Amino acid sequence: METIRQLAALRAAIAEARGRGERVALVPTMGALHAGHIALVAEARRPGTCVVASIFVNPKQFGAGEDLSRYPRKEQADLKMLAEAGCDLAWLPGVDEMYPEGFATIVSVSGVSEGLDGASRPGHFDGVATVVTKLFNQVRPDAAFFGEKDFQQLAVIRRMVLDLNLDIEVIGVPTQRDDDGLALSSRNIYLDEGERQKAVALPRALGLAAQALAKGEDVDHVLAQAHAALNAAGFEVDYVSLVDAETLGTPAEGRPRRLLAAARMGQTRLIDNMPIH
Ligand code: PAF
Repeated sequence: METIRQLAALRAAIAEARGRGERVALVPTMGALHAGHIALVAEARRPGTCVVASIFVNPKQFGAGEDLSRYPRKEQADLKMLAEAGCDLAWLPGVDEMYPEGFATIVSVSGVSEGLDGASRPGHFDGVATVVTKLFNQVRPDAAFFGEKDFQQLAVIRRMVLDLNLDIEVIGVPTQRDDDGLALSSRNIYLDEGERQKAVALPRALGLAAQALAKGEDVDHVLAQAHAALNAAGFEVDYVSLVDAETLGTPAEGRPRRLLAAARMGQTRLIDNMPIH
């Protein structure tokens, strides 16, 4: 695996891969990698594909008072994991390379980015859409892989790719979970032992609610129960919402639905989501 920090070198390496007739797949990350990221690389790996994984802790997607300065940074361990997973190129731009002096552009996707995390974290999805657009232009992949754990992010990126006619296949990869069901997240390391044990209430509450909704139980009642279960476990709930799986708006009859939640355990904000079958 080649580690690249300058755009010119990235473009040259990708041109070489294209010259060999390879497709290019991108796995964008902010590092602090775990099995969820490795599942994205595994999905991206196909014969004749050059897999590029980016590691960039994007300051533009962190709000004031969020965890930018303490966000885990583990470059050497990340590079080892990517190499072992069969990644071909690791793209590690610096902040100056990504946002040089005078940088003045924001990519903003309305609608799908506005509720849920968009409401709780103003500007977050503008930061995501801006950096992902830049990564897409830097790497020019045929396909890009994102985890379904960040379900709203995936919906925002799908909308953006459609709206901007980007010729990139966006592939969502199912959430990877610990044995007890907690969704893998780079932020789980913020949880102390007691919090980590209590955090399992999040996937449990969502799982029970998803089952009840699939059986046709009253939506308001089911959501209130999930909310109460999370509070009882020590979570401060941000939202538990049932939405249309594509628009993330109000679910309509016959459309696929998704249950999403965000809740704070101590200092750590966790998100999770589940499909309604
Ligand atoms: O999901 C993430 O890790 C980030 O939001 C992404 C897509 C790499 C953009 O910074």
